[in-house]
Amino acid sequence: MTLLQIQDVEKLFGGLHAVNQASFDVEQGELVGLIGPNGSGKTTLLNVLSGLMTANAGQVLLDGHSVLGMTPTKLTRLGVLRMFQMTRVFTRVSALDNLIVCGLAMGLNEPKATARAIELLEELQLTHVMHLDGGQLSGGQKKLLEFGACFMVQPRLALLDEPFAAVHPVMKETMAAFIRRRSAGGQTFILVSHDMPVVVELCARAVCMNAGKVLADGPTEQVLNDPAVMEAYLGTEALEGHEHA
Ligand SMILES: Nc1ncnc2c1ncn2[C@@H]1O[C@H](COP(=O)(O)OP(=O)(O)O)[C@@H](O)[C@H]1O
Ligand SMILES: [Mg+2]
Repeated sequence: MTLLQIQDVEKLFGGLHAVNQASFDVEQGELVGLIGPNGSGKTTLLNVLSGLMTANAGQVLLDGHSVLGMTPTKLTRLGVLRMFQMTRVFTRVSALDNLIVCGLAMGLNEPKATARAIELLEELQLTHVMHLDGGQLSGGQKKLLEFGACFMVQPRLALLDEPFAAVHPVMKETMAAFIRRRSAGGQTFILVSHDMPVVVELCARAVCMNAGKVLADGPTEQVLNDPAVMEAYLGTEALEGHEHA
């Protein structure tokens, strides 16, 4: 069953086509890796899917119904949950309360939110820091906490933007194991990551974006070996090299 349909989505910043007629579907229960060089439009696409930005054109359907232009709050209630590339946690609230607040916002009552928060903290190996303020956590612990916040209520669709970036390998494995378990349980994900070994391991399918367009879509190994995909990555590296020269 198709959960999400992205059809010819366009997002412009002035004259820049950050997302350029991007189309792909996500089936219920799929774990899709969204890859592509820096600036290829991955975060912008997630911004559109989570309601933070409106598209200039195209359509986004969840369960066959248009969700384009809905507010992030409304999309959250429909089960579209989003983790940011730049971590966002409440710094002056305990790790436990960070999760409880999210649970309450998603409609859980306080005992349920508390129980769920304690479970998630344990699963993410954050129990020992649950009474520390968000601001006292390490960068990796903040990421894990924000990650956990997406799962206070089981999402229909979890959108993860570079969850493993700059995270200690042990925490990365905690997150990867969490994703693997949820995926085995039927959770649907779009996972943006530059960590190719993790993408290969977790995602049966990958979508590669370049300059706002979907460049390749298919089995992950096949996408990574696609000459156009390799060229897109090498082209960017060559440009970056030039900038540093
Ligand atoms: N808020 C914004 N205003 C203007 N340009 C933006 C904005 N957000 C992203 N862009 C530009 O859109 C393009 C795609 O960016 P982004 O979606 O962040 O790419 P990625 O996540 O794949 O690295 C880039 O050229 C970026 O500079
Ligand atoms: Mg990004």
